[in-house]
Amino acid sequence: MLLRIWHILYTFIVVVQAIDYDVDDPDSIKAACHSIARQMLTHYTGNQPGDNPGNLPDPYYWWEAGAMFTALVEYWYLTSDDTWNNITTQGITWQAGPSGSFMPANQTRTEGNDDQSFWAFAAMSAAERNFPDPPPSSGSPGWLAMAQAVFNTQAARWDTSTCNGGLRWQIFTFNNGWTYKNTISNGCFFNLAARLAKYTGNSTYADWADTVWDWTGEVGFMTDTYRFWDGADVSSGCEDWNYIEWTYNTGVYLLGAAVMYNLTESPVWKARTEGILNASFVFFQDDVMYERACEPVNTCQVDQRSFKGYLARWMAATTQMAPFTYDLVMPKLRASAKAAAETCTGGELQATCGLKWTDRKWDGMDDVGIQMAALEVMQSTLISRVDPPVTQDTGGTSKGNPAGGEPGPAPAPVPEGLRLEITKADRAGAGMMTVMLSMIVIGSTGWMVYE
Ligand SMILES: *[C@@H]1O[C@H](CO)[C@@H](O)[C@H](O)[C@H]1NC(C)=O
Ligand SMILES: *[C@@H]1O[C@H](CO)[C@@H](O)[C@H](O)[C@H]1NC(C)=O
Ligand SMILES: *[C@@H]1O[C@H](CO)[C@@H](O)[C@H](O)[C@H]1NC(C)=O
Ligand SMILES: *[C@@H]1O[C@H](CO)[C@@H](O)[C@H](O)[C@H]1NC(C)=O
Ligand SMILES: *[C@@H]1O[C@H](CO)[C@@H](O)[C@H](O)[C@H]1NC(C)=O
Repeated sequence: MLLRIWHILYTFIVVVQAIDYDVDDPDSIKAACHSIARQMLTHYTGNQPGDNPGNLPDPYYWWEAGAMFTALVEYWYLTSDDTWNNITTQGITWQAGPSGSFMPANQTRTEGNDDQSFWAFAAMSAAERNFPDPPPSSGSPGWLAMAQAVFNTQAARWDTSTCNGGLRWQIFTFNNGWTYKNTISNGCFFNLAARLAKYTGNSTYADWADTVWDWTGEVGFMTDTYRFWDGADVSSGCEDWNYIEWTYNTGVYLLGAAVMYNLTESPVWKARTEGILNASFVFFQDDVMYERACEPVNTCQVDQRSFKGYLARWMAATTQMAPFTYDLVMPKLRASAKAAAETCTGGELQATCGLKWTDRKWDGMDDVGIQMAALEVMQSTLISRVDPPVTQDTGGTSKGNPAGGEPGPAPAPVPEGLRLEITKADRAGAGMMTVMLSMIVIGSTGWMVYE
């Protein structure tokens, strides 16, 4: 109620002090990002006595904390500010567990493949950025070993019994979503495989990246024009697509493709990278990023409020792996970062940000996902001032374990020659719908779909 009154009063105050963010001045960027991160962490309780490191309180799901620590690894790398390194190391190592695979028993009832991957990304970024290793006294596996452990557990789950391949959304049969195959779970596996291939030089990872990429196209979750649908239920053979498009699906495949391009220097991966980048521009209005499935109809749920941050993070990383994208990406990140900063006028620190960057004003909310997305886009403009990711051959020191992961079935062999029977006619049909540009709002509380 107080918040509400404050919000109403606030809208009438003409002179609103926005956070000082000058996209051309690294010191101002760093100072602004420090305040934004500090505000984000007012929500974090995992470092308090009696709480579990790495957990965010309700309403935030477990995965979002993994995303938050990835943002903090990148924050340290981009700004050199190590204020939150200790809680970051503590949170990641605690949730990774002794096997490093991010399968804590406490999360069994909800953990999906995508959730596990968002934690793996924290470890992968830590390896790529030479984030200080876990202290030996913790007995924790190294960052690289964690990413490998997640890779191994997911490769073993590749499911050819339905839809000719793919990861299911959920890991456990008893959870809702076990029958759904979604783009983000597969996109995360693709992204992680590509980055492990680059970091280690082990071609098994690159083979898997190829397999996941091919399957995503064959099953129709990725169109010929590089749009990404949300997923489909296995009961329809994955043919009854859910057409919602999210920024993070585009982002996760974009960086994976850019890393594969960097690894192979192949014109095929270059064209794919450029194609996804071109297609990502639907998520921008006057160069400012927006979540077009939910922002226009005010239906962004707690998870979805964070998604733009990942597209920003992965676009910035793409400029390092595929420098030819730099001139296309940076105007969009800079404009988005400036707009995001203009929303950060709320709260005591005057650093609480709003959801819709295109509105350029605070909306009265105080939310981890909103705050993290603003942090990611605002720090992304420092990307040209830092070195590209390290690999094992170029200074990476993180300890790996190619055989890591939960005890269980060995990674399945890379399936060969599996082809979905998607006919040319089906594809043309989908293409026609694109041309009609029909915009359907599913129900009054649903999301916008642009077919
Ligand atoms: C799981 O929950 C128990 C009980 O709250 C706690 O002691 C344990 O540390 C938790 N594990 C993780 C990885 O958070
Ligand atoms: C981080 O942890 C190390 C080792 O425990 C300690 O020496 C250091 O003071 C801590 N830094 C901060 C900022 O808390
Ligand atoms: C991307 O867009 C540019 C400019 O519109 C165009 O020249 C290029 O061919 C497109 N690339 C792909 C792979 O679609
Ligand atoms: C691969 O990444 C490195 C590091 O950023 C960069 O110098 C190199 O040009 C990239 N390779 C290609 C083919 O773009
Ligand atoms: C390459 O990765 C695969 C899959 O994790 C693993 O089985 C294999 O041992 C690795 N090879 C080397 C040389 O590390």
